[in-house]
Amino acid sequence: MIPKEIIKRLRCPACGESVDEAGLQGGIQCSAGHRYGMRDGYLDCSPGAVSEGSTERTFASFGFEWNNFDEVRDEDEGFAEVYFRDLDLASLDGKVGLDAGCGKGRYTRFLAQHLGASAALDGSTAVEAAARNLADLPSVLVVKSDLRAAPFAPGSFDFISSLGVLHHLDDPQEGFNRLLDLLAPDGRILLYLYSRPPTFGLRALALGLAAALRKVTVRLPHRVLKVVSAPIATFLYYGVVVPGEYGDRHGMAALAGLPMDAYRGKPLRSLVLDTFDRLSAPVEHRYVWEELAPWFTEAGMVVDAARDETGWFILAHRR
Ligand SMILES: C[S@@+](CC[C@H](N)C(=O)[O-])C[C@H]1O[C@@H](n2cnc3c(N)ncnc32)[C@H](O)[C@@H]1O
Ligand SMILES: [Zn+2]
Repeated sequence: MIPKEIIKRLRCPACGESVDEAGLQGGIQCSAGHRYGMRDGYLDCSPGAVSEGSTERTFASFGFEWNNFDEVRDEDEGFAEVYFRDLDLASLDGKVGLDAGCGKGRYTRFLAQHLGASAALDGSTAVEAAARNLADLPSVLVVKSDLRAAPFAPGSFDFISSLGVLHHLDDPQEGFNRLLDLLAPDGRILLYLYSRPPTFGLRALALGLAAALRKVTVRLPHRVLKVVSAPIATFLYYGVVVPGEYGDRHGMAALAGLPMDAYRGKPLRSLVLDTFDRLSAPVEHRYVWEELAPWFTEAGMVVDAARDETGWFILAHRR
């Protein structure tokens, strides 16, 4: 069953008309007879044809990633604390949300506890993992679609999250504007976007090295990259994360100032996943605030919070 609050917002991907749930087989159907079925627990609204630009490679990379690192882990709660720090979770009560680029659905799952109903959308086969991880939540519908052609009526959602997604598009600002089309007049959007340090330092050096590595790794077969990611992550974990943690515990400022502090207290496997993620995604954009601020002003959005903690966490609402 598709949640009532979601079915009324769904639109036919072929003609844009409203849809009904399609009888016993599940899925959706519009009055013109266009049908989109449920498959392995998700609503398949993906086009038959191949997408343009880098999209196909991006979806192949994340489809592999989220079906290989597919479990929602304890440490994801810890990461969620950082992602949703600026958000009053109680204010989501009864609201309808969209998690655009949901991956395996770890943050959709976290948000679903607070929202009335939600749609978890992803363009890649990550939806298979998301459908498994969200199967026990009747208020959530998993949808396979490109977020730039999401099958929902304009202004559908009170809350949109898109975490670690838009920086992988060829034109991230265009993706941002497509998401805003789906936002209700008094809606809020929460983004996580990669940042770039404004001045040269240890982090800029590390990002430069990663960029050089990526020239090779984005071309490796995903299976090979998965194997390669483990020793790189292990080296970084014991060379940077663990000494940083030691610095924290013993008040040693030089060690405590090491980068990658987000992984302190987290298991090595979380860094293996993120190493694969960083080295595999074919496109990544990184931003300083001066480049992002115009996205919001041009779209008539008010920024409620924007902090850079090795990436921009931005919460905004309509003016
Ligand atoms: C880094 S993952 C983040 C997943 C999830 N938000 C999380 O933080 O765990 C980025 C996700 O965005 C999805 N994605 C990228 N471009 C997309 C697009 N144009 N439409 C829909 N999903 C997209 C990818 O398939 C991938 O699952
Ligand atoms: Zn139709």
